[in-house]
Amino acid sequence: MLQPLTDPLVPDAVQRWSASDFAKNGRFIQDLAGPIFALLAPKPGERILDLGCGDGTLTAEIEAAGADVLGIDNSDELLAVARMKGLSVKKADAHALDYVQEFDAVFSNAALHWMRGPDLIVGGVARALRPGGRFVGEFGGHGNIAAIATAMRAVVKGRGGNPARAVRWYFPTVEEYGTLLSGHGFAVHEIILVPRLTPLKVDMQGWLRTFCRFFFDQFEEPERSEVLAEMVDLLKPSLCDSQGRWTIELVRLRFSAERRSGE
Ligand code: BEZ
Repeated sequence: MLQPLTDPLVPDAVQRWSASDFAKNGRFIQDLAGPIFALLAPKPGERILDLGCGDGTLTAEIEAAGADVLGIDNSDELLAVARMKGLSVKKADAHALDYVQEFDAVFSNAALHWMRGPDLIVGGVARALRPGGRFVGEFGGHGNIAAIATAMRAVVKGRGGNPARAVRWYFPTVEEYGTLLSGHGFAVHEIILVPRLTPLKVDMQGWLRTFCRFFFDQFEEPERSEVLAEMVDLLKPSLCDSQGRWTIELVRLRFSAERRSGE
């Protein structure tokens, strides 16, 4: 039975993570992180906040560059993995950052699209940075995983639900996010959409189960399995080749901004 989703405007990702599924199905996230890591260019001694650090894969790389890094995330399960790596991490809601001019840089990779209150987040990041501090990040931009999002809306509509509530991610345009950054006192140095066809090393079922858990959790079994199979059927002609290899159409929004002095 389809149950109502909560208000999609509530700043709450409502996504539960399995650390082992994330490690297995989320490899593509780290594989794509080279350019954004280069844009951050962490320096020894810098104090850096890794916002939405997950299992700490990139937090560890920032630390290895000599920076003093704190990772925050809202998933206990992923934070436990990060702690096992000896990283300094904390459970926190990125919508309610309470740091004041504490960091030289705030970094975020593949996390901001899970957070539905971008105004609160960018405001908190601006407060957390020292004047001249950098906010560097990459996340899903407008058009990200469009086929998957469309299939989710179609499945919900076909079952009598509200398609407008089926998709929980925040995938803004360059104009929208650039305006948000400027409005919070940032000078935006770079902001682009980067389309990335990304072959999956796993099958689509595993990917959907890991990254769309909030979506499937609204259904009880056996409907949940039926919906999963329906999604895979809908996506197959567009995203799976004749050899059975799946590719997803990511669109990353990559940005680098600087907190202006005196704001
Ligand atoms: C992404 O990295 O763009 C992404 C991953 C999982 C779900 C949604 C977006």
